[in-house]
Amino acid sequence: MERLQKVLAAAGVASRRKCEEIIAAGRVSVNGKVVTELGAKVDPTSDEIVADGKRIALQQKIYLAFHKPKGVISSAKDPGGRQTVMDYMHGIKERVYPVGRLDYDTEGLILMTNDGEFANLLMHPRFHVPKTYLVHTKGVPHGDALDKLRRGIRLDDGMTAPAEVEYADADPDSKEAIVQITITEGRNRQVRRMFEAIRTPIVRLRRIRFGSVFLGGLQRGKYRHLTKAEIAELRELAEKAGLKETHNVQKGD
Ligand code: URA
Repeated sequence: MERLQKVLAAAGVASRRKCEEIIAAGRVSVNGKVVTELGAKVDPTSDEIVADGKRIALQQKIYLAFHKPKGVISSAKDPGGRQTVMDYMHGIKERVYPVGRLDYDTEGLILMTNDGEFANLLMHPRFHVPKTYLVHTKGVPHGDALDKLRRGIRLDDGMTAPAEVEYADADPDSKEAIVQITITEGRNRQVRRMFEAIRTPIVRLRRIRFGSVFLGGLQRGKYRHLTKAEIAELRELAEKAGLKETHNVQKGD
């Protein structure tokens, strides 16, 4: 049994808070009876739930890996009218949204789902999943500088946790390099700030891994469905971190 507003939100009727208003306004019935009580529990698989005269259909949970291009905003809406990740969800009827964020200028892997509980797990501050980035730098950072990133470096919001850092490529005349860095935290603009701290300009930043999910050959601007194994591994990582799917907070609340 689940709370009525949660079931309505999961079915894509509106955000959880809006659904509460819709219920309180007497616009929802369960098995033919109007329900205005917010704590009401329903069985979404057997109860007949009708909102504004329309029977609601349960949305299938979907999980996508998306290759965000640079210059695309990783939120569902942009008041400034810029392109968002939603503009690339062709053929997806479900109300998916991004799990966490990537900067406007950062490209690469971002997960999208309509499963609010799962998204909350992955965005939980205690969920320290490894995230790997390829950083194209102007000039080749010194080995000592990379050591600092490995050990942890002071940023204005505190020391970073140890990171795995290695050269992926460096050109012989030292004009540029590609550094691969794996971090387990998810602070705002973290990789950019870490490289600023070692005075190394970034010319391109791309995320290639999020936990058990890799960008692989996924083309820019395209998505693919996660495999069952990828979803299970992410859940396992969260469980290991002591997290459970009990928060039940739907994005948009
Ligand atoms: N670190 C950054 O600096 N930017 C991102 O988008 C992700 C991680």
